[in-house]
Amino acid sequence: MLAIYFLAFLHVTIENETFHNIVWPLITIGSFAVFFLDMYILPLAYQTINALMTPVEATPPLITILLTSAVAITMVRYLQTRPAQPEDAPVFEQIHDQKRRAAQFPPPFPNGWYKLARSGDVKPGQVISVNGLGRAFAVFRGQVDEEVHVLDALCPHLGANIAIGGVVEGDAVKCPFHGWKFDGKSGQCIDIPYAKSVPNLARTKRWTHREFAGVIAVWYDAEEREPMYEPVPFPLKEGTFRRVGYRRGTLPMHIQDFAENASDWMHFSLLHDRLSIPILDRFFYIKHRTECNYNPETNPYNFVFNDYPTIHSIFSDAPIQAAEAQAQVEFTGPGGLVYFRFFTPRGEVAVVKSFLPVGEKGLQLTMEDEAYAEKTVPWFVAKHVVREANKAFDDDIFVWRHKTYMHKPLFVKEDTSMKQFRDYYKKFYSPNSRTYAHDRLDW
Ligand code: FES
Ligand SMILES: [Fe+2]
Repeated sequence: MLAIYFLAFLHVTIENETFHNIVWPLITIGSFAVFFLDMYILPLAYQTINALMTPVEATPPLITILLTSAVAITMVRYLQTRPAQPEDAPVFEQIHDQKRRAAQFPPPFPNGWYKLARSGDVKPGQVISVNGLGRAFAVFRGQVDEEVHVLDALCPHLGANIAIGGVVEGDAVKCPFHGWKFDGKSGQCIDIPYAKSVPNLARTKRWTHREFAGVIAVWYDAEEREPMYEPVPFPLKEGTFRRVGYRRGTLPMHIQDFAENASDWMHFSLLHDRLSIPILDRFFYIKHRTECNYNPETNPYNFVFNDYPTIHSIFSDAPIQAAEAQAQVEFTGPGGLVYFRFFTPRGEVAVVKSFLPVGEKGLQLTMEDEAYAEKTVPWFVAKHVVREANKAFDDDIFVWRHKTYMHKPLFVKEDTSMKQFRDYYKKFYSPNSRTYAHDRLDW
C-alpha cells in the first residue's frame, strides 16, 4: 500500500510530459506485471508442478479477486486525476451564441497593465508579435540600448505585421514588406528606402511599457492617459527563489470574472474544499478562513486577499495543525498581473499569474502562470503547493465557461467583499472603453 501511495505521490507532483507519457505507463504496466506474476503465474506454476502429486483448487480465492479489483480501480483513478489544463476549454462551434454571451459582459479591456512577454522572450535584436487587447503588438529589444520597445505591429504603409518577418536594426525595427524603418522610442518612421523624404505622419503607435522582474508589461488606457498607477514587481528576492513551474492557456472568459473570484468567498467551500491527492481526498477536506485588505484612500489600485486554509478529516472538525498555511492573493489594477503567495513552514511558494484579454469578438483570455519557490522549500512540497494552486483555479473553469455577467447581482449581507471588489473594479472602465463587437457585420 505504501508503494502505491508513493507512486500516486509521484504521479500528482511530477508534471513532466515524458514522465506522464512514458515513465508512468511503464511503471503502471510493470506494477501490473509484477502483481500478476506474483498473484497468478508463480502460484499456477507451483500448482501445476504439484498437480501431478495432489489435486488443487483452480479458482482464485475471493480475496485475490477483491485485491486485484482494488488495485485496478486505484490505478485507473490515479490516471484520471490529472487536473484539467486551461487549454482543455472547448472550441466553440456556436460562435454567434458566444458573441451574444460576450455582449452581456463589461468592456473586454479594463484600463491597466498587462504582461506581453517575459524578458527572456526578447533578446537584443529580436522582435516578437503579441496579440492582445484587440491589436497586434511588436515587442522588440534594441541592439544598441538593449531596451525593450513596444509598437503597434501593423505598418501604417500597407498594413504588414512588422513583427513577423521584420528585423531589428539598431534601436529600430524594419518592416518586411517595403523596408520602412520605425524608431523604438517614438514609433516615428525614420527611413523609407525608396523615398527621398519621410512624411511626419509616417509613424506607428508607441506603447508605454515597463520591464521589471523578468516581465514586459504594457499600459493600456482607453482614454490614452498616462498610467494611473505603477505595476508592482513581485518581490522575488534575487537568488533565493527558483522556478518550479510554468503553464499557459486560453480560456473563454472575462478577466473580471477571474478577478472577482478571490473576493467571492462563499464559493470556496463548494468548489475549493478538495485535496488533489486521490484516495486521501476521500478522508480529508479543506476549510477556508478569509479576509481582504483594501484601502481606497491610501492605495486605491491595490486589493489584497488573505486565505488561511486548514485541512480537516471527515472524522473530526478540528484542523490538522501541521497543514495550516497562509495564502495571499495580491491584485494591483484590474488583474493583468496577480501574485499568489503561499507561506509554508519551509518558505514561500509563489505563482505569478498574468491575464491578457485577446480581442473584442468574443470572450477569450490568455493566461500564463510562472511558479517560483524559495530554495528552502523542498522540491516536492513546492510542486504540491503549485499543483493545489492550479487545481483551485481549474476548479472554477467550468463555472466561468458557462456563466453570464450580472450587472445588478442580488447580493446578500455575506457577499459584502464581492460588492466592495466591484466598486474597486469600476475605476478600470472609462467612457471610451471598447465593447464586445456583437453588433458589427462579419466580413
Ligand atoms: S507595409 Fe510596411 S513598409 Fe510597406
Ligand atoms: Fe474560485
